[in-house]
Amino acid sequence: MPEPMLPGIPATASRFEPRPSDVFLASFPKSGTTWLKALAFATLNRVAHPRCSPDHPLRHRNPHECVDFLEMVFAGCADGDDDVFAELPSPRVLATHLPYPLLPTRIAAEGNPGKIVYVCRDPKDAFVSTWLFLLKSMAAMANGAHTAEYKIEEAFELFCDGRSGAGPQWRHVAGYWEASRRWPTKVLFLKYEEMLHDPVGNVRKLADFMGCPFSIEEEAARVVQDIAELCSIDALKNMEVNKSGSQKYFKNEAFFRKGVARDWSNHMTPAMAERLDKIVEEALQGTGLTFAPAQ
Ligand code: A3P
Repeated sequence: MPEPMLPGIPATASRFEPRPSDVFLASFPKSGTTWLKALAFATLNRVAHPRCSPDHPLRHRNPHECVDFLEMVFAGCADGDDDVFAELPSPRVLATHLPYPLLPTRIAAEGNPGKIVYVCRDPKDAFVSTWLFLLKSMAAMANGAHTAEYKIEEAFELFCDGRSGAGPQWRHVAGYWEASRRWPTKVLFLKYEEMLHDPVGNVRKLADFMGCPFSIEEEAARVVQDIAELCSIDALKNMEVNKSGSQKYFKNEAFFRKGVARDWSNHMTPAMAERLDKIVEEALQGTGLTFAPAQ
């Protein structure tokens, strides 16, 4: 009998059969998940949807509709359900906010098939993005009945205590970082800030890692640049579906705000930034992973 993976996650999760061509996109919330979903989806599906044509799925569907979250699908299953992803054609791309140690062992255990791409972000920007996302979403859910009161100071205490849906940000990041060092052919570790600095280079890196590098002909036809452009925040934000549609709980527009580095400095005090930097620095000591300190 298959063992249940996690309390509350039905046994169907343990029936999940990873394939060598599977790609799992992992992240701490508000660290670039939507962007990574769009980039991986467009890169893997570039043959079916060449040159980012007008009928490209990303022009009509939010990236979260193109790539499901593993845990959300599992959570909607009953214990007796079969492998719910079995029908999806290869290469499958799925996402997760689960910390590395909580991934189904069929995905994470050494020697098992499938690749993982992790995107990390400066914790201060991930914190501010989370706070603003929740603030806006709470206001939207209240349907204008009242303005949600969720002060940054309150959100900051919770974040510093590691109390968030995916656990402490620094532990989440460290789990995937260590896995990427131990097993570099299985786990690719990307940084949001580096992706902003060099989107095209990072799309190439992503394609190489996923086993579908760009050919000389594709490079000549500037397919990489097309994908980076299609998935840029400005392009996605201005698509009709992302201006008006919604997911189960959130409006599509809520997934696209500024999309820049260091916006934390417009919301956090220097003392807050210093405190969070210190927590993260201490937690990551000796791992070789660093974020730019507050300036
Ligand atoms: P900000 O709130 O700082 O603007 P996630 O997708 O993990 O929920 O992360 C959301 C953050 O990524 C938001 O950050 C959002 O604006 C940003 N983002 C969304 N799409 C992006 C894109 N295509 N390029 C860069 N950043 C993007």
